[in-house]
Amino acid sequence: MTISTLVHSHATVTAIGTYVPDRILSNQDLEKLVDTSDEWILKRTGIRERRIASKEQYASDLAIEAVRDLINRYNKTVQDVDYIILATSTPDSFVPSVASRVQAFFGMQNCGAADLQAACAGFTSALQMANGLLLSKLCRKILIIGTETLSRATDYTDRTTCILFGDGAGAMLVETTDPTSSPGDILASNASTDGEQGHQVYRSSLAPHIGSFELSQNSMLVQNGKEVYRWALSRVAAGIQELLDGSGYTAQTIDWFVPHNANQRIIDALSERVGFAAQQALSSIEHYGNTSAASIPLALDAAVKDGRVQPGHLLLLYGFGGGLTQAGVIMRWSI
Ligand code: UT7
Repeated sequence: MTISTLVHSHATVTAIGTYVPDRILSNQDLEKLVDTSDEWILKRTGIRERRIASKEQYASDLAIEAVRDLINRYNKTVQDVDYIILATSTPDSFVPSVASRVQAFFGMQNCGAADLQAACAGFTSALQMANGLLLSKLCRKILIIGTETLSRATDYTDRTTCILFGDGAGAMLVETTDPTSSPGDILASNASTDGEQGHQVYRSSLAPHIGSFELSQNSMLVQNGKEVYRWALSRVAAGIQELLDGSGYTAQTIDWFVPHNANQRIIDALSERVGFAAQQALSSIEHYGNTSAASIPLALDAAVKDGRVQPGHLLLLYGFGGGLTQAGVIMRWSI
């Protein structure tokens, strides 16, 4: 695994915003659709309910609302953003990108725009790439977004997947700042991929195979939950430990662990393996379910809003999932 330790990167998160659709799909609602129970779902996943986009809402609509939230709360302008990196597995369309739609809505001039597909590692991958563009001085102000309408890619007759997924979006503004005036810094990052395990979580309507593995072709999310679970507890736990070891931090020196919210049991088991106390792990899974690329900003923003996360705190963000891929970032929070 590649670990890069970047001291004083000068890249600082200057605003965060989130959005979830109004409609709630509860465990009780799912009991009417498939053979499941509120008790089973809560015990096995920690999820009580998830949000579902309306018929008119696509990934770009959720993203735009998250950016609006960021603008309003932090009194920011996005007109001078010079790049949008948007992570999603459920785009409005293949072409144009969702990032282009966001650019068009806000009318930024001279702004690059690209979608990034790294499933549940999308948001942390976008943050790593934004950091690289800022460090290289190619950009000065970047909008990163994780947005998902997973309900459009969920088979509501499959009880092994439909209980997990929900819709939502999160956005962050990442800017080049003067290191003498800002404590905010992206301090270290890592990434690795086990592509030979790609068939364990997929969504396909094009290629019929991954290697010799035959894929369903209906554009719905399919997963081997048990295998992904096993992979998370072995490979992802090892990746988090490597990020800490490689950068000289420990679980005790990190204030908040913000993992991808796949399943509360995975969050608890990862915390235990790496040595985080249960209360250090931020989760939004109870009310939002697994929102893939949006789950990390949703969990983090809830703790920013209620005051748990404070300027100066050290965060370890860790995305993992489809690919199978993982990407982590250690950063100092500054807003
Ligand atoms: O972010 C995208 C990547 N995906 C993930 O991270 C998912 C990771 N995996 C998981 O979260 C868990 O594996 C699941 C929540 C998907 C499943 O939980 P589990 O504890 O691994 O359950 P299981 O697959 O071992 O199934 C246990 C039993 C089975 O019945 P039998 O064979 O023991 O009779 C299943 O058929 O539970 C049954 N089952 C259900 N029962 C009620 C599976 N789904 C359900 C359900 N309601 N929704």
